[in-house]
Parts: sequence; structure tokens; C-alpha cells
Amino acid sequence: MCGIVAYIGPKDAAPILLEGLQRLEYRGYDSAGVVVSNKGLKLRKVKGRVADLAKVVPARFKGGLGIGHTRWATHGVPSDENAHPHLSADQRIAVVHNGIIENAGELRAKLEADGVEFLSETDTEVLAHLIAHAVDENDSLEEAVRKTLKSIVGTYGIAVIDAERPGEVVVARNGSPIVVGIGEKEMFAASDVAALVRYTRQVVHLEDGELAVLKADGFHTFASDARETAKEPLTVDWDAGHYDTGGYEHYLLKEISEQPETMTRTMSGRLDERFHVAHLGGLNMDARETRGFRRVKIIGCGSAYYSGQIGAQLIEELARIPADAEPASEFRYRNPVVDPDTLYVAISQSGETYDTLAAVQELKRKGGRVIGIVNAVGSAIAREVDGGIYLHAGPEVSVASTKAFTSTSVAFALLALHLGRVRDLSPADGRRIVEGLRRLPGQIEQILEQGEAIAELAKKYADHPSMMFVGRVRGYPVAREGAQKLKEISYVHAEAYPASELKHGPLALIGPEMPTVAIVPDDELLDKNLTTLGEIRARGGRVLMVGHREPDAKLADDVIVIPKNEIELDPILLTIPLQLLAYHAAVALGRDVDKPRNLAKSVTVE
Ligand code: F6R
Repeated sequence: MCGIVAYIGPKDAAPILLEGLQRLEYRGYDSAGVVVSNKGLKLRKVKGRVADLAKVVPARFKGGLGIGHTRWATHGVPSDENAHPHLSADQRIAVVHNGIIENAGELRAKLEADGVEFLSETDTEVLAHLIAHAVDENDSLEEAVRKTLKSIVGTYGIAVIDAERPGEVVVARNGSPIVVGIGEKEMFAASDVAALVRYTRQVVHLEDGELAVLKADGFHTFASDARETAKEPLTVDWDAGHYDTGGYEHYLLKEISEQPETMTRTMSGRLDERFHVAHLGGLNMDARETRGFRRVKIIGCGSAYYSGQIGAQLIEELARIPADAEPASEFRYRNPVVDPDTLYVAISQSGETYDTLAAVQELKRKGGRVIGIVNAVGSAIAREVDGGIYLHAGPEVSVASTKAFTSTSVAFALLALHLGRVRDLSPADGRRIVEGLRRLPGQIEQILEQGEAIAELAKKYADHPSMMFVGRVRGYPVAREGAQKLKEISYVHAEAYPASELKHGPLALIGPEMPTVAIVPDDELLDKNLTTLGEIRARGGRVLMVGHREPDAKLADDVIVIPKNEIELDPILLTIPLQLLAYHAAVALGRDVDKPRNLAKSVTVE
């Protein structure tokens, strides 16, 4: 959700900012801008992509201090004027901002009454004018920013520069991430480590309410009451190579293809063949505590929530603990009953999704025990929880989640195995799951080999205006994720239903113009699923079946047959062909696969 980059040091800032913005473009891509300080502020900003911005930044755009932004519109349409950075009326202060200022309307009205003329419709411009007023009355930019932020209601990650103080950048965070990057006599800041890894691996994450002053030779961080805070730098283990397409046409295809390795990394060092258990030291829980939980409640948003549904199923089956998943965005608003005997699990690839973070904070405030399943090390959710499981899937750049989804499902299998083996899951079943997990990467390779065949099927189905996805029990979250992938990247309307619910309403939609993708694993529900296929076909509906064996030819028009694992783990494999189907449908329809319209990676606003 918007990207921020800031630089101060001996080099020219502009190329560093542009390169950083390019790496952050997956977080926002409707407009972009940079400002550098060199005897006054020099600004360029455009509606469009970072590549469009690069075209209008002249070669002589010199200056060793600058800030940049790539935007995903919240207040005001995408336009040159609404693009960040925003400047104060006297052109002295420049600000870039992620997040939403809720009282912007009120603040704007006051400023306008004082004669300030606004150039944009954004909430951010308010900040530039307020800081410009405050800087006249205060000795330091730091103090001016602090004072301004006190009048703000809402969320922000900001970077601010002052033309009259060319030796510093001030950054601050409240609900929207800011990471400081430590270089050799140069300092960086960004909303995501992706923008920094080419220059430094030493980073410091700001906490909510913190502010940092960056100078070329170092930085200081402060709590909201201006008390200086001590921060230990963290070494990031992702490098610039993780952010390249690696020869693939799209990040999405690269990330789908990486799944045998990413999944292996999620399991690495965590499976124990002797006792058939999973070692999850990051949970920070001893066996007695682990045995004490009577329920598991999983929260996450979008695809993370669907992987939570797969997780709930795994936990109920393997550990026999009642478990369910709920969208974090709903959970946080319904005043949830927080129970001391429940283990709460928050899922987030980015670790920055605002709704999930807010739900975790609400749980913690009420004394709930929360663990995280998170990909981004050191992210806000990872810092907030009591313990957790890192995915180690590497950065996910494409907006649509793929490898993080499957790694999360694997992490749930590990958690379910762990919870199960301190309860009643037998060593034999533990071994079965451990062996099944070990087989997954090789089986994914086999599914990926079917890429071309799936591309042909995608072409065949892509021109339908709408598609139905159905699955039963373990297959239902798979169907939901399949529909989600298709709609978000191909813009083809897709509905997901439990196969058992079809005849309670949605069967009315079925006909030749609405094909169904049916998830039909070889499990105890096979016959029931085949009956559903018969019902669809009887209404003239086309069926693309994804399962473990060819059905009777009358039941499906097309079939994707994938390798069989243990029934509990099959959902992980069943997801892969649906990712490929969505990807190839999006390519066939000429969509912007990695940056689908209206969406952004990391939704750091409500
Ligand atoms: C779908 C997708 C989103 C995210 C959701 C949560 O492909 O990417 O639905 O899963 O926005 O994001 P994280 O996992 O970063 O909290």
C-alpha cells in the first residue's frame, strides 16, 4: 500500500530513490514522485508507473538528500497533483506518506481558513503545511514533525525533509511500516526492506509512535514522548536477487515455480524423524502449555484467511482441537470474547496488514495468547505476537499471494503435528504426516511440469464471464483460494461454494456459460463430489475437475490429475494447479499479472 524511500549521504539520491521505488512498485503503482534537496527542493511526480517517473527526472537532478513515493490512491484520484511528495506552500517542506489521516478534512478546513491554498485532494498535503507552520516555531525539524503528529488522527509512515536543513531526514511510524537502513556514511529509510537490500542488510524497524532522525553518519530514534530509544540493528537475510524476476516473464510465475524450494525452507530443521514431531522453537511454549489449549482461533485477511481455513482443518484432524478461522478484518470489530484456553494464530505474509495487526493488538490487550505465522522477519505482526513460525519463503513480490499461501499451509501442518503429538496423534500417524510433508516438494515439481497443459485449459476457460469453484470440507478453502486467485489477477468473476451447498441456491447459476472448477480429491468424500459433478453436468454446466484420477468421461469436460499425498496434506497440492490456471488465464486475457488493478501488496490501511 504505497511505498516510501528516503536517502541521505554522499551519493546522488535520485537514482537510489528511483531504484528503490521500482522495487516497491508492487505496493502501489498509480503514481510516483521524488524530491531532492539541493539549494531548494526539486520535485518531479507523475500519474503512472515508476518507469514514467524516471522519464521525467532529468539527468541533472543532483542532491544527496531526497525522498520518494509510489502511490496507491486512498484520498483523491491518481493524478500528477495527488502524487507524492507534497510540498508546503513556501516549498520548504516535502513529505511522503503512507496510511490515512482520518481528521484530514477538519485540518484542511482550518488551514484553508488561514489562507493556505491546497494543490491536491490528498490527506498528506495537510502534513506538509502543518509541518511548515510548526518548523517556524520550533528549533528542529524533529520537533516540528513531532508537534504536527500530535494533531493527527489516523495511520502514517512518513518521511520529511526541510530545504533549510539539508543534513537530515525525519521519518515516523504509526500503523504503517518504516524501516531504517544503515549504510557506510549514508542512511536510508523505506516502507519495506525490498527498497534497501541492494544497499544494506542492516536495518532497524520503527515501532508505532516512534520517530527517527537520519543524518549521513547515523541515526537516533525517539518514542512519542521524545525520549530516545535504543535499537538493535537486525540483519536481513533476503538479498536483491530475491527481488528479480529471475528470467521468468512475471514474478507470479517465478513465485509459483519456487514453491518446491520455499516449502522445503519452511520445513527445514523442523521435522524430527525419530519422534515424528515438528520442532517449533519460535512458539516459546513448553509441552505443558501446549497441551493446555482447548481451542485454536485463526485470523488473517484474504488468502491468508483461506490458508487459515486449511490450517483449522489440519489442526482439528491431527490434534483433535476445535479450530476455526475468521477474517481478521471482521474479528477486530466484533468485540471478540477472548478466552485464556484458546491459542490465537495470526497469519500474514507481509506482517504489516493493518486489520490483522489491529486484531492482534486487541487480542493482546485482552490477555490472549497469540502466535504469528509470518513471512517478513521483524515485521510489525512478528514483533507484536508472543511467538510464532516464520515461513522463510523469501519475499513475495507479485501482488497475488502464492508461495506464502502454500508455505503457510505447510506451517499449519507443522503446528498441527506439534499440537497433535503432545496429545493423541499416534507415532504412526506422526510418521505418515512427516513423510507426506517430505514428499510435497517433489510432487509440486510434477504439477509444475503440467504448466503447458494447464495454460491450454486456461485459454479455453478464460473467455467465460464467470466461473464457479466448488470443494467439500478440505477442498472448500482450496476452492475459495482458487476463485480468489482467478478474480484478482484475471478479473474473471469467480464464486466459491462448498460443493454441498450448490443445490441450496447457486445451482441456479449453472449452465453452459458458467463453468465449474471442481476440487475432487481421492478421499472419503469422493463419491459425494462425483455426484455433484453429475448434477452440474445435468444442467449443461462444463466441469474442469482437479483431483487424483480421471473420472467417468460423462462427469468432467477436462481433468487435471495431480499426485496424491496424505488426505490431510492434499489441499496444499490441489492449490498449485489453480494458481497456474489463474496465472495463464490472466496472461491469455492480457492482464497486468503482477500488479492487478485496484490492488496493492500489503494493505496497511483499514
Ligand atoms: C491475495 C492476497 C491477499 C493477501 C491479504 C493478506 O492473493 O495476496 O488476499 O493474502 O491481503 O496479506 P498478508 O498475508 O500480507 O497479511
